[in-house]
Amino acid sequence: MFRKVEKKTIAAIAAEWDALAPIRYQQIVSGVDLTFKHVLAPALLSLASAENADTVVDAGCGVGILTNLLAAQTREVVGVDPSPESISIARAHFGRSAGFFLGTLETYAANCRAEADLIVANMVLMDVLDLDSFIKSAHRLLRPGGAFIFSTTHPWFWPVYYGYVDEPWFKYEEETVFESPFRISAHPNVDLFSTQVHRPLENYVNSIVGAQFAIERLYEPMPTAEIDARYPEPWRFPRYLLGVCRRQ
Ligand SMILES: C[S@@+](CC[C@H](N)C(=O)[O-])C[C@H]1O[C@@H](n2cnc3c(N)ncnc32)[C@H](O)[C@@H]1O
Repeated sequence: MFRKVEKKTIAAIAAEWDALAPIRYQQIVSGVDLTFKHVLAPALLSLASAENADTVVDAGCGVGILTNLLAAQTREVVGVDPSPESISIARAHFGRSAGFFLGTLETYAANCRAEADLIVANMVLMDVLDLDSFIKSAHRLLRPGGAFIFSTTHPWFWPVYYGYVDEPWFKYEEETVFESPFRISAHPNVDLFSTQVHRPLENYVNSIVGAQFAIERLYEPMPTAEIDARYPEPWRFPRYLLGVCRRQ
């Protein structure tokens, strides 16, 4: 079910997200993705709103649903993602409210002169192949004092609730690229896979601090009891980690 793999190319990663894009769109707009609707999006939108940002980059925007929600509270939003199918869905549905760039955040940072107030990356850090270059690109795209707000799988608890803790290759302290069937709790039978990267907490912290961000706040959100009851397995611990980082 889980398979440790060698590092892949970004083209291979984009192709995986191309295949998943129509399913992700349906899962999120239908509300079947409980975590997006009830845990992550509300928390991220509230943190983003507190920034009073004029210009926002949604890094790793996928099919653009969060980008569109950010656009409702911001003057200018650009979604950035290397998956052509995701960007095409995003443009078709949300092209009027936000701009979309096809490419990695690294490519966007190398080609665009942006002085963004805010970068949001929802569930992207555990999917990027090169964490340092992704975070450095976020730093390059922000104005001094701008914010980088991320959510990612919780490095301590993801191995347990996702189920790879007992894999023979798993070592908490080692960055490991692995393939897994793509599944969300309430919709487990999608017959596609994605590539993800396990990293210990120290890798995230050191990469963020090493790129000259100050970590201002960390959050470990939990669902309300009512929402928790709708998951096949109740949450025993936080499944995600959110952070607000300030560009120095
Ligand atoms: C789990 S999806 C999250 C999508 C979206 N943020 C959402 O809220 O649904 C991870 C996304 O990160 C994108 N991604 C991977 N590496 C990236 C990079 N270096 N720069 C920008 N996006 C990247 C993938 O193409 C994929 O769409």
